[in-house]
Amino acid sequence: MNRPYQGHVMEKGSMFEKIIRRFSGVRILVVGDIMLDRFIWGNVTRISPEAPVPVLVVEKETFLLGGAANVVNNIHSLGGQASLCGVVGDDEMGRKVMQKLGEMGIERQGVLIEPGRQTTVKTRIIAHHQQVIRIDRETARQPETSSVRTLSGYLEKSIKGFHGIILSDYEKGLLTKNLVRHAIRAAGGAGRFVMVDPKIKNFFLYRGATVITPNTGEASSASGIPITDASSLHRAGGILLKRLKCDAMVITRGEDGMAVFEPRKRPLLVQTKAREVYDVTGAGDTVIGTMALALGAGGSIRKAAELANHAAGIVVGKVGTATVDQEELINVIKESRRSQ
Ligand SMILES: Nc1ncnc2c1ncn2[C@@H]1O[C@H](COP(=O)(O)OP(=O)(O)OP(=O)(O)O)[C@@H](O)[C@H]1O
Ligand SMILES: [Mg+2]
Repeated sequence: MNRPYQGHVMEKGSMFEKIIRRFSGVRILVVGDIMLDRFIWGNVTRISPEAPVPVLVVEKETFLLGGAANVVNNIHSLGGQASLCGVVGDDEMGRKVMQKLGEMGIERQGVLIEPGRQTTVKTRIIAHHQQVIRIDRETARQPETSSVRTLSGYLEKSIKGFHGIILSDYEKGLLTKNLVRHAIRAAGGAGRFVMVDPKIKNFFLYRGATVITPNTGEASSASGIPITDASSLHRAGGILLKRLKCDAMVITRGEDGMAVFEPRKRPLLVQTKAREVYDVTGAGDTVIGTMALALGAGGSIRKAAELANHAAGIVVGKVGTATVDQEELINVIKESRRSQ
């Protein structure tokens, strides 16, 4: 059979595998907004006598780490070593976050418990496997000045022990101007990379980071160019790359995959494979976690993006905020190699 590209593709495939096998030696510090996802599961059998509303009889409560803590989750699941840096409140849900991190063996030295702060929790009430309502509790204000100082100190002291930093911004206030500047400067000084999953408000604070991974909506707002087609995508990517002076701007495009912009290079478009999609929440966390591990393992930005695209493709095919492990990722890459 004549398969002219097989040699090239095989080589690329095994290169991916080599990178993935190195994940266990990679250490990443995740700095950002820590959240907790709480699920209250139960059944409804009657209407309340107090008001015309159903009564939920609770069967169980489950918890998942969210926000920056979900990035840690993703790195952990891929076999990498992650530490977390951020704040939680001095409350029951803050303790829950600490407990879950402890159970996973995640380094918590950089997680500050701030009195008077409310831990960000998103509670979903689920009746008969159907979400009925979501209740959010949060503090979206900046941490106390003394907390920022402590976190900056931790960052500076520990940066050398990591291959790179991820800044995971969920607009809950942790990533202050001071902390971001400090992180980018400390990482630069130590020769470590900084990857940022941005939101809109702080977008231009991240100038000088190594890689920034906005989604299409964030890239459209930040560039002022609504991304609607290939030409607007290229213009927006080019503008953001210039303004943020980063090594790469990776625009994640949902089912359309990703676009990687690097100075003096043609943009790379990474396509997704057609697959059944169950839940896209948390795909952004998978992207940044996988890319950081791949860079730490010595992969190029482009290889890292392709790997992250595979990883996110697996996660969106699972129910809930899911993660992926090394074997699943290797298998999907082998499969995609076979189908070329
Ligand atoms: N429907 C889909 N099919 C295949 N892959 C997908 C799909 N949606 C997302 N992905 C993968 O996940 C990546 C990130 O998704 P997206 O661009 O939606 O990020 P996001 O909006 O930051 O996500 P979130 O904030 O929900 O975590 C995409 O670049 C792609 O690789
Ligand atoms: Mg996102």
